[in-house]
Amino acid sequence: HLVPSLFAPAMLAGGTAVVIDVLRASTTVCHALHAGADRVVPCGSVEDARETAAKLRAAGEPALLAGERGCVIVDGFDLGNTPTDFTPESVGGRPVVLTTTNGTAALLRCLEAEEVLVGSFGNLSAICAHLSADGSDERPVHFVCAGTDRNVTLEDALFAGRAANRLLAAGVGRIDHHDGDPTRLATAFAAAHPDTAAALADSRGGRNLAKLGRGEDIAVCAAVDSAPVLPRLTGDALRSVS
Ligand code: MLT
Repeated sequence: HLVPSLFAPAMLAGGTAVVIDVLRASTTVCHALHAGADRVVPCGSVEDARETAAKLRAAGEPALLAGERGCVIVDGFDLGNTPTDFTPESVGGRPVVLTTTNGTAALLRCLEAEEVLVGSFGNLSAICAHLSADGSDERPVHFVCAGTDRNVTLEDALFAGRAANRLLAAGVGRIDHHDGDPTRLATAFAAAHPDTAAALADSRGGRNLAKLGRGEDIAVCAAVDSAPVLPRLTGDALRSVS
């Protein structure tokens, strides 16, 4: 069944967690792996990211440091959190160590799930195909919205609702009677907002990005199936699985 969760889902064990931070961390992860990054290593803090990258480099790996605080590239990092900066030229074949304010933190809260995936509009069809093919009727699917500062955000709920509506329309899964209210909110919201880019632009995160001069990232984050990978957490890193 489908259970869009919010921030600290209590019952992830045995389920699939689809971690969502549409603006922009989950979109960035998809773009990085689609551009051929070897893997993405999520870190909870800037210090942890620096140490992780240093260890990988000491072991001879060409690790890149990426991420933001306040939506701005961290001082001394190689890349920020702009999805289109993750190109074959910049990240191809290399591990990317990533820390973001809300997105990587949400990922790291999901470690008890049986399976942790990353979802964005860029890989909407890949996520839905995987959940359709994977016996998800038996395994609860939790759409974990990263949100902003522990508040649910419109763009993450929009993705959760869009994905859930696709699955339900395909006859995959059902809304759980007991835990289904978040799913019903998300699916109704998504049905009422068919224009993804407009909804993203009108969100707090979207307006904030525009204010910071990153308005063009909104269209990138709204583009469906632009980075059709399936990022799955294996050990400490997200890798693209087929
Ligand atoms: C986050 O993780 O908080 C976001 O991805 C912030 C951003 O858009 O850079």
